[in-house]
Amino acid sequence: MNVTLRDELYNHAIEWVHEAGNIIRDKMNDPLDIQTKSNANDLVTKLDKETEQFFVGKIKKTYRDHFVLGEEGYGDDLSSLAGTVWIIDPIDGTMNFVHQKRNFAISVGIYHDGVGEIGIIYDVMANTLYHAKRGEGAYKNDVRLPALMEKTKINEAIIGMNHFWLCENRFVDERAMQQFVKDIRGTRVYGSAALEFAYTAEGIMDGYISMSLSPWDIAAGIVLVNEVGGKTTDIDGNELNMLEKSPILTCNSAFHTKILDNLQKGRK
Ligand code: IPD
Ligand code: CA
Ligand code: CA
Repeated sequence: MNVTLRDELYNHAIEWVHEAGNIIRDKMNDPLDIQTKSNANDLVTKLDKETEQFFVGKIKKTYRDHFVLGEEGYGDDLSSLAGTVWIIDPIDGTMNFVHQKRNFAISVGIYHDGVGEIGIIYDVMANTLYHAKRGEGAYKNDVRLPALMEKTKINEAIIGMNHFWLCENRFVDERAMQQFVKDIRGTRVYGSAALEFAYTAEGIMDGYISMSLSPWDIAAGIVLVNEVGGKTTDIDGNELNMLEKSPILTCNSAFHTKILDNLQKGRK
């Protein structure tokens, strides 16, 4: 992607993310019209939908040939990542948004021909912006994030994960997971995959594991993590298909094989 165009997209994306954040903060105490999607705990609100519509409107008006892959379905129905694709989660952490009114984020990843060029994750209530361009480093607000330490000691690791490995044993062996949880220093659950990627990039968590994430949960986070020397794959170590749901592991590159080995014990 042409560097001048990329800078323009980056500036627009940041401007729109801030604008959307202002709207969410202004309207979050109005009736949210909460509905459920795939199950009773899969929530969506009026503001998830309106925020995605806001981005789709801006993008389609400014860049007619760009595509949008968005969680709420107002973008395009894509079967390939050819061209420039904005992968958007208008509110990542909707359950936090509804119940806690904090710890949710807007996540915008911009990919060109399948390559992650820009990643933006905005913690709306903390007013913290994580942002990265491929090859130019990752930032938290104005501060450049240092490369991740090549930490490899499992017993010193803090790993983000939720309880779904208990219910979802297609990808991991339950006993291996129990042992892994005992072996590491601690677990954290923030309830927003985008923020958990951002915290991994920031180095305040040593990695993040999830049994099922969609492209919009991870598109921006992958760019951030890449820029600090991290690696993201599925739970078997395979490259991700950015058009499908996957079980994922993101962490510093040195740790990656070691964590996978631990998770896969009992399966191989
Ligand atoms: C969810 C959050 C959550 C993760 C779920 C996602 P949503 O996104 O990122 O932390 O565990 O898998 O679906 O629905 O709040 O955008
Ligand atoms: Ca999400
Ligand atoms: Ca969402």
